[in-house]
Amino acid sequence: MNKMKIGNKGYLYPLPTVLVGTTVNDKTNYLNVSFCSIVNRTPAMMSISLNKSHYTCDGIRQNNSFSINIPSVEMLEVTDYCGIVSGNTVDKSKLFNNFYGELKNAPMIEECPVNVECELIQELDLGGSNVIFIGKVIEVYTEEKYFTNDTLDLKKINPILLSIYEFNYYNVGKKIGKAWSVGAK
Ligand SMILES: Cc1cc2nc3c(=O)[nH]c(=O)nc-3n(C[C@H](O)[C@H](O)[C@H](O)COP(=O)(O)O)c2cc1C
Repeated sequence: MNKMKIGNKGYLYPLPTVLVGTTVNDKTNYLNVSFCSIVNRTPAMMSISLNKSHYTCDGIRQNNSFSINIPSVEMLEVTDYCGIVSGNTVDKSKLFNNFYGELKNAPMIEECPVNVECELIQELDLGGSNVIFIGKVIEVYTEEKYFTNDTLDLKKINPILLSIYEFNYYNVGKKIGKAWSVGAK
């Protein structure tokens, strides 16, 4: 065995790249988030993990809501920009065409292929740098053009993937097998 020790950071490949939307002090704001996951299937719940200092944290608490917007690779530059500047000093409210769903206070991005509207159900502080917001999924919005047959098509969504410690973005590669199926033999 040729394993070497490389420290104790969190590793996961690839990470998603999403834009989380909130209304902070009555202003629409988006930030780039890679610590995002599905945490419950039924009812559907998703989590985001944010550094405690982020402007977005205030907006989530003010409205008890947030949105998770999945950008496509065509939106790479503006997505990265949302992860470089803070709404505390820069107005990010006019970067996209915004729309609202059931909750009326979780802004979503028209240009993103998939938008998940979440109602905050829990905030978890594990004593570290970040706070975890868990949201119940209220509704998901997309467009007909991202479907193949009856299913959302990953290639059509064309999401941005992150290789975290390389600081590089990637796009999706080839399909390599049918899930819940190839292992059956
Ligand atoms: C690729 C990328 C991924 C990021 N992922 C996260 C994340 O998962 N959690 C987090 O708190 N900040 C993350 N950030 C940093 C925030 O997006 C960034 O600090 C942002 O400016 C904060 O915005 P706000 O102050 O308007 O809330 C990421 C930034 C980039 C570029």
